[in-house]
Amino acid sequence: MFKVDRKYQAYYTKSEPIVDYMVNNLSIQPDDKIFEPCGGDGVFIEAILQQNENANIEVFELNSDTVKGLIEQFSHYPNVKIKETDTLIDNDLTLNSNFGKKYDKIIANPPYGAWQDYNKRKGLKKIFPNLYTKETYTLFFFRCIEALKDGGRLVFIIPDTYLNLHMHKYIREYILTKTKIKEILLFPSSFFPGVNFGYANLSIITLEKWNIHNECLNNEFRVISNFQKVNQLFEPESEKLKTHYFKQKDIYCNPDYAFLIADNPQVLNIINSVKTKISDIANCVTGFYSGNDKEYLQVISSNLKNGKNYQVVDKYKINKNYSKIPNILDGISGQDYFIPIVKGGNIKFLKPDNWFMDWSNESVQHYKLDRKARFQNPQYYFKYGIAVPMVSSSQITASLIENKLFDQSIVGIFPKNKNMIYYLLAFFNSLTCNKLIRTINPSANNPANYIKKIPFIAPNDREFKEINQIIQQIITDLKENITYNPKLELELNTIIQDIYGF
Ligand SMILES: C[S@@+](CC[C@H](N)C(=O)[O-])C[C@H]1O[C@@H](n2cnc3c(N)ncnc32)[C@H](O)[C@@H]1O
Repeated sequence: MFKVDRKYQAYYTKSEPIVDYMVNNLSIQPDDKIFEPCGGDGVFIEAILQQNENANIEVFELNSDTVKGLIEQFSHYPNVKIKETDTLIDNDLTLNSNFGKKYDKIIANPPYGAWQDYNKRKGLKKIFPNLYTKETYTLFFFRCIEALKDGGRLVFIIPDTYLNLHMHKYIREYILTKTKIKEILLFPSSFFPGVNFGYANLSIITLEKWNIHNECLNNEFRVISNFQKVNQLFEPESEKLKTHYFKQKDIYCNPDYAFLIADNPQVLNIINSVKTKISDIANCVTGFYSGNDKEYLQVISSNLKNGKNYQVVDKYKINKNYSKIPNILDGISGQDYFIPIVKGGNIKFLKPDNWFMDWSNESVQHYKLDRKARFQNPQYYFKYGIAVPMVSSSQITASLIENKLFDQSIVGIFPKNKNMIYYLLAFFNSLTCNKLIRTINPSANNPANYIKKIPFIAPNDREFKEINQIIQQIITDLKENITYNPKLELELNTIIQDIYGF
């Protein structure tokens, strides 16, 4: 991987199929006024000129060295204008967008997550009051749509996070009501050779600007996914790919205008029709961080995964009755001041006590004052609940929090009705729940805000009893160090499937 300046985030589109695909999608006409807002090393300009050497192209680029390169490369094209400027705040662009001198076509691979200094961010917040200014790509996206003529077309390659994340709600509303989306392709960022973006998936979005609200909402577009290799970009009809068709109006009716993409329509139906969400029946909160785990966290054995760098806990210092200590939130005064803490890691139903936190009076006092520590949501520490790790592998998992401390990599779920614990434990470990959360948020992250949005359907008496019995069996087996019978988990999955219909 090569090093990239965080200010410019100059990851170039070094993939011929991606460039060709995007330029083809622009449907260039001879008289088009084309805009490239983040010129870089000019890959799009080159590809456009190959289609039409007289194409009228305006190029913006912030980095003066890169501008020099562009001038060298394209100075013999009188039809290519290169300007060193900041696309996000360029005055001419603002004036042109406001007064109708707009572009027919815009193509870009804008910087993702480019670092903005504090003052610039403040300025950007003024220009883009509704957008999340810490993430740059949506600012370029919005600004460029504004700069399009009615009927003008834009092709952007950007991360796919604008489709679902809370912070991008406004840009979703904007594109659903001000543009007609033609197509969205979703593919792994590894299709970009040699670069790791830190984003799991990228998208290529093609859309047209239309200022007629109702026409936009009635527009139908397709989302193509399941790409295995980059050449499949040219086989949109391939059976190996998944294509979903949507009306913008339907996406507009989804909670937070999220682009919920699921193979099974019942998943969408449940997300939209079930009004009770997990947030209505349970409190969902993130847990504790010491501020310096190397100093305060200890491990049961150095052989434990990731345990090497931690001190092994002295068994005599482990407090067995901490949950009964009054004022435990102030710490422990005796010599046995280490208590178990539930951490991340994808283990279902019950986690062994492998990690222990220093909970002496002194240390707890420190956690409460230290700037790096997070003594957050303490009213839920030492309560009976469920732990869902914030990062999951392919399947979301959940385990019991039996009156323990839980750390910040965990979302602690505390049902308002305590009887629901086992049902929720079964639910959060089920394939059904996995489909729901991955539709609500396709990344492998399960922050509290997304967990809260999962629809909740209560079981009937029979289902409730069956689930409780099975969970009790699993927990008993795990406590006796016996691996539970996998058939039990299949039974749980089947019952939850019957309740939700998938
Ligand atoms: C992700 S690269 C893409 C370059 C090129 N379009 C490509 O696809 O290979 C983004 C480019 O935008 C430039 N850039 C970053 N911030 C910018 C800004 N605010 N205004 C204009 N250009 C910017 C960077 O210097 C970099 O060359």
